[in-house]
Amino acid sequence: MESCRIIAAAVLFFSVYVIQCRQNLVVRGVPEDGPLNFTALASKYGHSVEEYDVVTEDGYILKLFHIPGYRSQPVLLMHGIIDSADTFIIRGEGSLAITLANEGYDMWAGNSRGSRYSRRHITLDPDVDKKYWDFSFHDSGYYDLPAMIDFILDKTAQRKLSAIGHSQGNTIFYVLGSTRPEYNEKINVMIAISPVCFINNPSPTIQTLITLSPLIDSVLEGFGQEEVFNDNSSLRPLIKAICAQKNFGYAICAHGVLFLIGGSDPEEMEEDFLPIVVEYYPSGTSRKNSLHVAQVAVRKKFVQFDYGARKNLDLYNTTYPSKYDLGKVTMRVALLFGSNDGIVSLKDVRLLRRNLPNVVVYRMMEHKKFNHIDAVWGRNMKKYLFPHIFEILEKYNTPVR
Ligand SMILES: *[C@@H]1O[C@H](CO)[C@@H](O)[C@H](O)[C@H]1NC(C)=O
Ligand SMILES: *[C@@H]1O[C@H](CO)[C@@H](O)[C@H](O)[C@H]1NC(C)=O
Ligand SMILES: *[C@@H]1O[C@H](CO)[C@@H](O)[C@H](O)[C@H]1NC(C)=O
Repeated sequence: MESCRIIAAAVLFFSVYVIQCRQNLVVRGVPEDGPLNFTALASKYGHSVEEYDVVTEDGYILKLFHIPGYRSQPVLLMHGIIDSADTFIIRGEGSLAITLANEGYDMWAGNSRGSRYSRRHITLDPDVDKKYWDFSFHDSGYYDLPAMIDFILDKTAQRKLSAIGHSQGNTIFYVLGSTRPEYNEKINVMIAISPVCFINNPSPTIQTLITLSPLIDSVLEGFGQEEVFNDNSSLRPLIKAICAQKNFGYAICAHGVLFLIGGSDPEEMEEDFLPIVVEYYPSGTSRKNSLHVAQVAVRKKFVQFDYGARKNLDLYNTTYPSKYDLGKVTMRVALLFGSNDGIVSLKDVRLLRRNLPNVVVYRMMEHKKFNHIDAVWGRNMKKYLFPHIFEILEKYNTPVR
């Protein structure tokens, strides 16, 4: 039974990828009137947002959202893979962004390169230049985070900020801390929710996707598809149409895809909420980012991107890609995780804890079904997740003297 479901999911995913590639070759998706963006959502819940463009050292233009708060210490939220800052606000009054803002925190939400709001560059055109898509989470950690952190610290005249990362939104902080150790000093605490770093012991579904990843990648490469899950792809109306079907849509999109991948907790992601999720999720990233994640999983090591022996030798001075030195990640890290997460296994979180030198909180969520999805979209995050976050912020998000 389980294996049938896995094969079904894998086939579904594969078809989705292929459809996406083919459709893009035939017709370019036509942008429709989108849903409310981050700024409009925040204003619906009583907060006004300042929008900033931040330019990285390598020319990517990133969007930062800011809801000013009376507490002086900034808190930066970073989303996961194929996601955007929207993820932290679509639950409205029950969302992390709005709850932090209501509590007076100085809330900043970043957007990684390639995602919905950060699909711009000073010279490259993401619609035309393949080179734009030549990045993985490595570059988000090495370039995007320093640019956003320095911008925020400069703007607020603070020396440190705190960060909250979901999924790949915390992986990038390990890249930052290990490749640019001076940035460890700029972080009060990094709260890692559903922390992804090692992917050595994932669920069978994820394992299947990892096994299929070289095949998926070569199909995408064959179609010249460097961007995956873009908003403008004609796949999006298809996803929305399927997922919005009564009963049937929830069975396919929630039970058949989201729960199978992230862990199942139907009470926390109810049927009425699914159409809202698919308005905002997924958001685009690069083929290379997905491939890098798969490489980390296949090698069972937190390694840099593998370009093949010759280019590795040029870049890393070894034929094998170098490992990120987690020993250099000296910032305080709080690990918050659940026992029902299809992507992040308890074994992998334990391994991460052993490799990081400064883990100040290591906590399994009491909510038994806490999974990868509840961490951002759960109906009752205010009950089972936010108290932990506030406790950590109260303790560590304090002005530096
Ligand atoms: C969000 O939407 C508003 C209009 O509702 C628009 O003025 C603003 O530029 C949009 N911001 C972004 C980042 O897309
Ligand atoms: C969608 O297409 C429009 C028009 O070509 C473009 O301006 C916009 O940046 C695209 N957005 C995304 C997320 O692909
Ligand atoms: C590259 O590796 C060789 C042999 O391991 C070593 O002698 C050399 O110093 C390294 N070069 C750099 C730039 O790290």
